[in-house]
Amino acid sequence: MIKKCLFPAAGYGTRFLPATKSMPKEMMPIVNKPLIEYGVDEAIEAGIHSMCIVTGRGKHSLMDHFDKNYELEHQISGTTKEALLTDIRASIDAASFTYIRQKEMLGLGHAILTGKELIGDQAFAVILADDLCINQEQSVLNQMVDLYKEFGCSIVAVEEVPENETHKYGVISGEEIRDGLFRIENMIEKPEPGSAPSNMAIIGRYILTPDIFDILEKTLPGKNGEIQITDALLEQAQANCVLAYKFKGRRFDCGSVEGFIDATNYCYENIYMKDKKRTNL
Ligand code: G1P
Repeated sequence: MIKKCLFPAAGYGTRFLPATKSMPKEMMPIVNKPLIEYGVDEAIEAGIHSMCIVTGRGKHSLMDHFDKNYELEHQISGTTKEALLTDIRASIDAASFTYIRQKEMLGLGHAILTGKELIGDQAFAVILADDLCINQEQSVLNQMVDLYKEFGCSIVAVEEVPENETHKYGVISGEEIRDGLFRIENMIEKPEPGSAPSNMAIIGRYILTPDIFDILEKTLPGKNGEIQITDALLEQAQANCVLAYKFKGRRFDCGSVEGFIDATNYCYENIYMKDKKRTNL
């Protein structure tokens, strides 16, 4: 069983400056809900109730969001507006939240290794909140948890991207063992144009077995001088087995302005406007 979900959330979100100058990028709202709350809800839907968040300086509002706000709640208590807090209250009640600070930004692999203290010796999920994944029937992480129950090894979510975009992602190649499921043979972090092993890009959903921590401790800085989870996973794939799963659903790259706008439009039409609690207000 996967009981914990790690959220690397220490990055600066420079692409959204000045909005992210004093506000964590994970708190940027898609319509009326911060990105990280979508991630937390996805984890809860996958049966996970322990959220482990790797933060950095200036991320206090993240912690406050997953806590009560007595003054505000007192103010709107008994009014119709109280309904707007129903979802976040349910998420807070359904999960525990623990935090650890990443002191230096040494890459995604380093952020995940920083979370070791919170995770311990068990397989765990990772959500990069920038990648907003929507599947209203079964969340992407839930699909991956089902696969983990079957295979018991690390799994990364992948999506086909245009060839001229592979340089933005970790890219995999491998043998297709059944429809949409690959046993990874190679993976490269942000390959140079023309050297990608395929057009299958890793997106921000992972299930990792705990031996990844031992590998990460020995992983040397790779692309852009950062400790890359992709490099550690390749080592795990070569020694054991790592799967890549072409998930079902839509994914928005909310780390880019275009993806953020697309996600906003999609969620406004397909989630926000269909929520009776709000449209009746
Ligand atoms: C990270 C990973 C990359 C992955 C991407 C998904 O990159 O290093 O392998 O494809 O997330 O969003 P980042 O976007 O943080 O540069």
